Amino acid sequence: MHRSWSISGIDLLLPFGSDLGRRQGLEQGLRQAIRDGRLPPGARLPSTRVLAHDLGVARGTVSDAYAQLVAEGYLVARQGSGTTVAAGPVLVVETAPASAARTVPRADFRTGTPDLSSFPRTAWMAAARRAVHEAPDDAFGYGDPRGRIELRRALAAYLGRARGVRATPERIVVCNGYTQVLAILCSVLRSQGAGAVAMEDPCIPVHREIVAASGLEIVGVPVDSEGARIDTLAGQRLGAVVVTPAHQFPLGVTMAPSRRSALIRWARSAGAFVIEDDYDGEFRYDRQPVGALQGLDPDRVIYAGTASKTLAPGLRLAWLVIPASLMEPVVQARLVTDRHSGVIDQLTIACLIESGEFDRHVRRMRMQYRRRRDLLVAALAERVPALRPSGIAAGLHALLMLPSEGPSEGQVLAEASARGVALYELGPSWHAPGGHPGGVVIGYATPPQHGFTSALELLVDTFAALYPV
Ligand SMILES: Cc1ncc(COP(=O)(O)O)c(C=O)c1O
Repeated sequence: MHRSWSISGIDLLLPFGSDLGRRQGLEQGLRQAIRDGRLPPGARLPSTRVLAHDLGVARGTVSDAYAQLVAEGYLVARQGSGTTVAAGPVLVVETAPASAARTVPRADFRTGTPDLSSFPRTAWMAAARRAVHEAPDDAFGYGDPRGRIELRRALAAYLGRARGVRATPERIVVCNGYTQVLAILCSVLRSQGAGAVAMEDPCIPVHREIVAASGLEIVGVPVDSEGARIDTLAGQRLGAVVVTPAHQFPLGVTMAPSRRSALIRWARSAGAFVIEDDYDGEFRYDRQPVGALQGLDPDRVIYAGTASKTLAPGLRLAWLVIPASLMEPVVQARLVTDRHSGVIDQLTIACLIESGEFDRHVRRMRMQYRRRRDLLVAALAERVPALRPSGIAAGLHALLMLPSEGPSEGQVLAEASARGVALYELGPSWHAPGGHPGGVVIGYATPPQHGFTSALELLVDTFAALYPV
């Protein structure tokens, strides 16, 4: 077997049998590559001149092989656009069995995702173009583990103005999502001797898994209508407590001012840190946004924000504002994790923030989500009065606690799924399963804007069938 690369035009790795003549070997190599899908329909082949040079054969050998495959229907030769693989039936590519195909729900209300159809593509492309155009050469090299200075400067200003965070660019560390933030903070806390971290009960199961994977013990903090019960932390030896003060996930309550100050008092007296997960702080509907807890004590509170709700989770970008005492170990942990986040997206977000496009997008989406929330609340009030959404002053989800005498969480999920409606069940969010009231979380931001009305209809029909008036 002989392998050769073309060196100009288009690369083509082409095994061809040396036991056959050159032309036949080339024909067979191409035929096989087309049959098994390595050369897909529409793929352009190198010119005869380039391929002949690369393979060390006469140009006529390549022309003859191409002509033969054109005659067999594998290739198409067009004057001016070269030779391409035909879009014909010759392709035999193994496809995944139908059972492996993911079923797409007709109405997707799983929480966690903003409306991806509203991603600001045009503004993003303009910002990315500008970012790449203006970036100094060194931006494309290995950089500061904290992230690009342009983004840290933009974030310091944005977080101060929009979220009341006390931040300087020096104290910001850009990470690949809150998921990575949590893992890095846990490794730092552990290396500093912490044995346990408190987390709200309920909270996102995967966040518990991240903390547990770091070797830290998890202590549950119950949540009531005023937020996390800080009184339960008294006397506990904890490295930190993880909270979602602006909009508790998943219950949706906002931490009351008295709890916020009690939390800071506890952190100071315990010498512990507060990890503030401000995942959806930009989306508040009924009154002025609740400022970040971090503003109360930047030495005790580690602030974490993310682009996952304001822009898209696929970006995998989040940011930390770190107390001075933790800066060095966090930067070191960031370095050894994966050095730093991709610079082009960082520079693009910096441009979006500085041009005002980020704020414009957030404001536009806030209006859109508020409208969706109002439609959901009105439709349920009219057709399913047994279900009263809560936690709806902010964020992208509503909680529906299920009446104890009605269908269980599992039954609701099953009926919804049978109708093509995907929901998020509350059950797995509790630290200990069982003995909790049933509930479902409605991620009303998830359906695409153009399909929201029909998705809502399907959702409300499902609940109306489960809870007839
Ligand atoms: C409570 C909570 N925190 C944080 C995040 C953001 O995580 P990430 O930045 O890893 O996408 C989410 C996303 O769903 C969330 O629900």
